[in-house]
Amino acid sequence: MADLVAEVVPAEEIQARVAELGRAITEDYQGRSPILVGVLTGSLWFLADLVRRIDLEVEVDFLLLNRFGEGGRIRIATDTATPLVGRDVILVEDIVDTGLTLTVLRRLLEEREPASLAAVALLDKTSRRLVDVPLEYRGFEVGDEFLVGYGLDFAGRYRNLPSLWVVLDLPAFTEDPLRLARLVHRVG
Ligand code: IMP
Repeated sequence: MADLVAEVVPAEEIQARVAELGRAITEDYQGRSPILVGVLTGSLWFLADLVRRIDLEVEVDFLLLNRFGEGGRIRIATDTATPLVGRDVILVEDIVDTGLTLTVLRRLLEEREPASLAAVALLDKTSRRLVDVPLEYRGFEVGDEFLVGYGLDFAGRYRNLPSLWVVLDLPAFTEDPLRLARLVHRVG
């Protein structure tokens, strides 16, 4: 089991870094009331912790993406309920990998003419980047490995783990995706 998955960022370390990000945003947005827009579903846990570390009057909204077609084209499946025109928008992502999602999202949100647009991601896989996209705030730079926990899923599972785990043997894990659940939840 130990060679299949490993805990890489403990919950306390995540929370400490989230607090730092919250302090940075608080400083940078003094006198303003930003709206945090979370990209569902992965950003939910990060956003919930981050927003409680921001000492400003903020709003929260979400959007849900739909990926379709061979090239993984992206469109907004469920939009924000709040109009973003003239707002200071902070896009909240769980992880930036190739950068394609963030690139499309930034373009789509810029069209709404916000007062400003910034992005924050808990994790940044810089080595996997295919497109150069601005990322104003990031929690941790990570390598080219598959991660689960704290919002990140494998086939819908493991988002609720409070820490981050790396999948070391992806083929074996794909064959038996409940192996981590048996380790952490002592199920089955
Ligand atoms: P990008 O468009 O390649 O930057 O993809 C970003 C999306 O890929 C994220 O929002 C995640 O849904 C997914 N993703 C990338 N790496 C991982 C990972 O290690 N674990 C889980 N999901 C990931």
